[in-house]
Amino acid sequence: MIIWLILLIFALGIIQFRYKRRRMYELASKVPASSGQIPVLGIAHRLIGSTEHIMSTLETISYECITFGGTTTGWLGHILYFMLVDPVNIETVLKSCLEKDDLHRFIRNVIGNGVIVAPVPIWKIRRKVIMPALTPKIVESFIDIFATQTNVLAEKLEHSCGTGEFSVWPFINRYTLQSVCETALGVKLKAQDDPNVPFLTALNRVTNLLCERIFHLWLQPDCLYKLFRGKYTEHEKCRFTIRDFVGEVISRKRKEIAMNKTSKIETGLNILENYKDQTFLDLLIKSSGGDKGYNDVELREEILTVIIAGTDTSAVAIANTLVLLGKYPKIQEKVHEELSRVYEDSDRLLSKEDLPKLQYLERVVKESMRLYPPAPFLVRKVLRETALPSGHVLPAGSGVIISIWGAHRNPKYWGPDAECFDPDRFLPERMNLPHPCSYLPFSNGPRNCVGYQYAMMSIKGALSAILRRYKVIGTPEEGPIPRMKMKIDIMMKAVDDYHIQLQRK
Ligand code: HEM
Repeated sequence: MIIWLILLIFALGIIQFRYKRRRMYELASKVPASSGQIPVLGIAHRLIGSTEHIMSTLETISYECITFGGTTTGWLGHILYFMLVDPVNIETVLKSCLEKDDLHRFIRNVIGNGVIVAPVPIWKIRRKVIMPALTPKIVESFIDIFATQTNVLAEKLEHSCGTGEFSVWPFINRYTLQSVCETALGVKLKAQDDPNVPFLTALNRVTNLLCERIFHLWLQPDCLYKLFRGKYTEHEKCRFTIRDFVGEVISRKRKEIAMNKTSKIETGLNILENYKDQTFLDLLIKSSGGDKGYNDVELREEILTVIIAGTDTSAVAIANTLVLLGKYPKIQEKVHEELSRVYEDSDRLLSKEDLPKLQYLERVVKESMRLYPPAPFLVRKVLRETALPSGHVLPAGSGVIISIWGAHRNPKYWGPDAECFDPDRFLPERMNLPHPCSYLPFSNGPRNCVGYQYAMMSIKGALSAILRRYKVIGTPEEGPIPRMKMKIDIMMKAVDDYHIQLQRK
């Protein structure tokens, strides 16, 4: 009898739950569903497995979405997700759905309310503070750090040159971390000298753990995650290593400022004066209002955001480009020719005047980020019912995945050769973007990436330092469509950790 009563209450609960969400089911039924959905789990079972398998599933769903005309749906348990690959719809979402999806709560666990994951009311304030600290002029003032660090990177690679295949990833990852830490915090982490810097090890490990948690439903509730003692303990250890390190640098900076009476912290947002030789941390203290501005926790959250947002993203873009150049020797030759012209075969360090001259290299980087965008998917939350230009309506309470991967390979906007590697499609005379959101490695709209200039300086600087000294030897691709096995690890990375060979020029 009691069992029947429990079953009845359970059934009534389900009916009430479904009744409340009837609008969501109605709107979902008007959009083609991605394949392989099963009751209760939806597509969650397709995301079980390695990070390579998850990436390949998301690629498949992106292609299905192209075939369906730009929109598809998939349930992750009880949560409905829409995927978009059409730039017209993407633009609407990026402008009107500014809240990050709940899946970001796991990242928030580590970096707090940093601008990249902050809820909208906090994001609005944080975005206003971070913007003036990353203007092109300020980024340009970091050139000496990039010049030194890109040179160190090229020197470190010397030992692996001519020794056969090796993974270039750790070198590049250490270079981007070192330069972000030096520009952001003023700390010479010596990451390029010591592969076991605890901060880097913790950062890398925590991103693996976060990714695992985001895609595996059973690791999501805190109470269940704590049962996986090994993972949970490691997660917490990494989280504290990262927080303690940044926290310590901030408190040192506060002391330095307090002791140095002459370095008066100005309030107000006019921080463009006297920005030279200042770190991002100095600028952030100023732009948030000096002593009356950000407290130590807020500063730590923003600094961590910049470190996390700026390290792997740029490293992935550099590494993907090197692998692609190994696959296409003729394109690499053109890059070498341009570098010889710009540097006149001298071994001087990078200067800010060189960067705008490296036009062909820039096209190569852009094309590499088109086919292999470091952040291939953005996930936003739909707070209010949102009508898309396509006629579909996103119900409140659903999530929306913007597949940058799919948008960049959508033949409707990139033509029948969308899958081909062709840097010259970015030539000014050929580049006639049919829609601003058809190319969006740095996203678009009010919540787009604030680090574009910084990233391009770091990426072009590193690639030119490497390619001025070395040739990348890879297995030449047979056709114009490059094949690289990718995995999703928050960022999208090559499965083989970027194995290449280098030869002295
Ligand atoms: C190749 C390198 C990079 C790529 C591909 C990239 C891409 C992105 C993407 C896709 C977003 C998400 C925007 C959204 O949700 O719509 C983002 C946000 C952000 N990025 Fe980058 N990024 C790169 C480098 C950097 C660097 C070097 C920095 C800092 C120095 C940075 C700082 C940020 C910040 C602070 C946000 C949050 C913006 C906001 O929510 O208002 N990024 N980036």
